[in-house]
Amino acid sequence: MRARPGDWIAEACGSVLSMRESVQDPQWPLVATCSRGLEEVLRAELVSLGHPEATCGRGMVSFRGGLEAVYAANVSLRTAMRVLRQLAEGPASSGEELYEMASAIPWEEAFTRGRTFAVESAGRSTGLRSTAYASLVVKDAIADRLRARWGMRPDVERRNPDLVVHVHLAADGAGLALDSTGEPLSHRGYRPMGGPAPLAESLAAGVLLLAGYDGSQPLLDPMAGTGTIAIEAALIATRTPPGARRRFACERWAEHAPTLLRAVREKRLGARRPAAAPIVAGDRDARAVTAIERNAVAAGIPGLVTVVVKDARELGLPGPGTLIVSNPPYGERVGDPRELRAFYREFGDALKRRAAGATAWLLVGNPDLVKAVGLRPARRIVLFNGPIECRLLRYDLYEGSRSHTFADETRG
Ligand SMILES: C[S@@+](CC[C@H](N)C(=O)[O-])C[C@H]1O[C@@H](n2cnc3c(N)ncnc32)[C@H](O)[C@@H]1O
Repeated sequence: MRARPGDWIAEACGSVLSMRESVQDPQWPLVATCSRGLEEVLRAELVSLGHPEATCGRGMVSFRGGLEAVYAANVSLRTAMRVLRQLAEGPASSGEELYEMASAIPWEEAFTRGRTFAVESAGRSTGLRSTAYASLVVKDAIADRLRARWGMRPDVERRNPDLVVHVHLAADGAGLALDSTGEPLSHRGYRPMGGPAPLAESLAAGVLLLAGYDGSQPLLDPMAGTGTIAIEAALIATRTPPGARRRFACERWAEHAPTLLRAVREKRLGARRPAAAPIVAGDRDARAVTAIERNAVAAGIPGLVTVVVKDARELGLPGPGTLIVSNPPYGERVGDPRELRAFYREFGDALKRRAAGATAWLLVGNPDLVKAVGLRPARRIVLFNGPIECRLLRYDLYEGSRSHTFADETRG
């Protein structure tokens, strides 16, 4: 963990940085957003990046820092969706109030002439008609302020704007922020082939981190689909920064410092190491296996995931102390719930009979199916897979793992 950003810059870049970059150390209020339920793991990630001040909110973690912090967060965070630089926050119970708040922001410092922008709004407010109306108000405030200073309006561009301003509405208030990320961080870009029900990459990483996976233990996903869990495990095991090879919206900011971003990427890539334990992805569908192999190549971890065509009920562990992490079919998007109950019961039996000594973490979106597993979960965590409320369940498996009755489940 670095003591101060300035120390880190000196250590990583020596005299390469320009004067302007090396003296730059603002403490902007920053926000990393995430799926609900992942706030604590995201906070832990930010603490390990040198932000002990990071504080959890609902679907977000707040922290502070300048450009280096923005770059490091975008390059390194596994569980975040995007990183926002907050510009203003306050009451906004009417369009006039929102306009006042947006007009007071020195947009001329963030924009350079000829840059295009877009405004995106989310959330709900009692005083503002709609998110579309909020976007319109903020767009007018930005354009009016810049026209007053420059004598010309900046262009609004919906498809590929240089700057994206986020408006977050909540009750009688609003927050305005600049998006530093662009394409969400969860879109790692290694999954061109899609699949029946792929898990968001950031959620897969979050599930692994919640399960305590650090790469030192053998990992098995017996229902791997497109391989998201296994590939994220390989990225964690090798300490590969998930955003090291992609571009970010902040590369179009007025303050963008390419040398500093390159140094951040190189520092993170320099910390890569070999995987210490096997990572196995299985699926009964041979097409899934082809997809996993291609996706692993696209993720830059070829050969790190062993892929097998196998029914999950014929479970075989890759080693002692295996962590089984999986997102079995749960009826919302894959499979018929009635047939799935029988499958969950049989998979639960396989866990009991064939996985003594392992710990299993299952992400399940249907509570009825949870009961069918027939094992008592040692822990339950609520997570959201898009709009679907899921349970992440931990099962500690040992010889004669305690099976339980339906009555046990409804009590527990
Ligand atoms: C919800 S999807 C997993 C999605 C995956 N986490 C991803 O990100 O792509 C469930 C997967 O379980 C597989 N599956 C269903 N029944 C199975 C069985 N009996 N044995 C092994 N795999 C099975 C399906 O082929 C499907 O790929």
